[in-house]
Amino acid sequence: MPSPSKRLEKIPPYLFAEMARIKREVLARGHDVIDLGIGDPDQPTPAGVIGSLKQAVDNPETHRYDETARGWRPFLEAAARFYGREFGVTLDPETEIGQVIGSKEGLAHLVWAYADPGDVVIVPDPAYPVYKVNALMAGADVHEVVLRAEDGFLPRLADIPTDVAKKAKLFYVCYPNNPTGAVATPEFYGDLVAFCRDHDILAVNDMAYGTVCYDGFKNPTILQTERGQDVAIEFHSLSKMYNMTGWRLGFSCGNPDAVATLQRLKSNIDSKAFPAVAEAGAHALDHVSNQPTIDLYQQRRDRLVDGLRGIGWHVGKPKAAFYVWARVPEGFTSAEFAGALLERAHVLVIPGTGYGSSGEGFVRMSLTLPGDKNGERFDEAVRRIASSGLIPATAPV
Ligand SMILES: Cc1ncc(COP(=O)(O)O)c(C=O)c1O
Repeated sequence: MPSPSKRLEKIPPYLFAEMARIKREVLARGHDVIDLGIGDPDQPTPAGVIGSLKQAVDNPETHRYDETARGWRPFLEAAARFYGREFGVTLDPETEIGQVIGSKEGLAHLVWAYADPGDVVIVPDPAYPVYKVNALMAGADVHEVVLRAEDGFLPRLADIPTDVAKKAKLFYVCYPNNPTGAVATPEFYGDLVAFCRDHDILAVNDMAYGTVCYDGFKNPTILQTERGQDVAIEFHSLSKMYNMTGWRLGFSCGNPDAVATLQRLKSNIDSKAFPAVAEAGAHALDHVSNQPTIDLYQQRRDRLVDGLRGIGWHVGKPKAAFYVWARVPEGFTSAEFAGALLERAHVLVIPGTGYGSSGEGFVRMSLTLPGDKNGERFDEAVRRIASSGLIPATAPV
């Protein structure tokens, strides 16, 4: 067999392998593991979406290639209506929206559409690894901007050197944020739009968790910012919004050139999702509320965070997304603490370093937990963490 490309070797080693090994050992000893690792909605896709798919499958029109330039028209139109309703932003389904096979696919391919070797791609640290990995594979130089708790996990634009900004083509951000749970402000988006306009950079906002918000909070979008559409593309996903991770459907929207450029690349790689899935996605965007699932996450969040605070671990309460990002007690690295928690409490959390070196000192806990009905497994996780003895009486705030 020929060896894989050198490009593929640029993918950093899989950081969760050690956690998977300890989990196997703990399970083999007969323990019940509470796995707060993966962020994948545990609730089923809403029944209305499934019903819509069943109908769409019976329509032979959906059995063929979708040969459109940007995607299945009913889906693009539903996405435009969704945007107007949710964010008060008017988008032209003809030119300003493009269908993707889940936002991961679009976020990854965008780098290939824009960055050549020598170009810079700016990515946050910590972050969902897809931006950085694809930039590296495409041969681009990656500039990481650190997200700090004291800045609300928003990047410090003033710290980006001018020579880096001049060479940058893309600037990835993600709000609501994975892994920190942070949310964006209109002021931040305003600054980002100005920065990207000054340096001719495409701002890429990953809004995979765009509508997964709690306590009535609404995360803003960069496209609400004045002149946002001049420099920004945003990615939305039906995965987290409607418990549809396996369906592989999302959309890009915003700057028409950016939307078209991505679709130009994609038309040489994929032939879009099964149109019946896009049809069901349109139904979801137009008619389905996933509020019961969001209410469940909120209930779990409160039980987990309040419980941990009650035992002296003062973790933050996220306003959106479904992750709790918590500082580890002094004396541990993230990996050591996650390993010890799995060994002693049989609770699996992800070391922050899995999302970049600035994730050191943190762990991530997901609120998606199969088998949990209304937070009782999170209470159990808190009990186990308390009796592990790993949280000192005065854990970090
Ligand atoms: C921040 C972020 N963006 C994008 C994705 C990809 O989601 P999908 O490809 O299912 O739309 C994920 C998935 O975990 C994510 O956490």
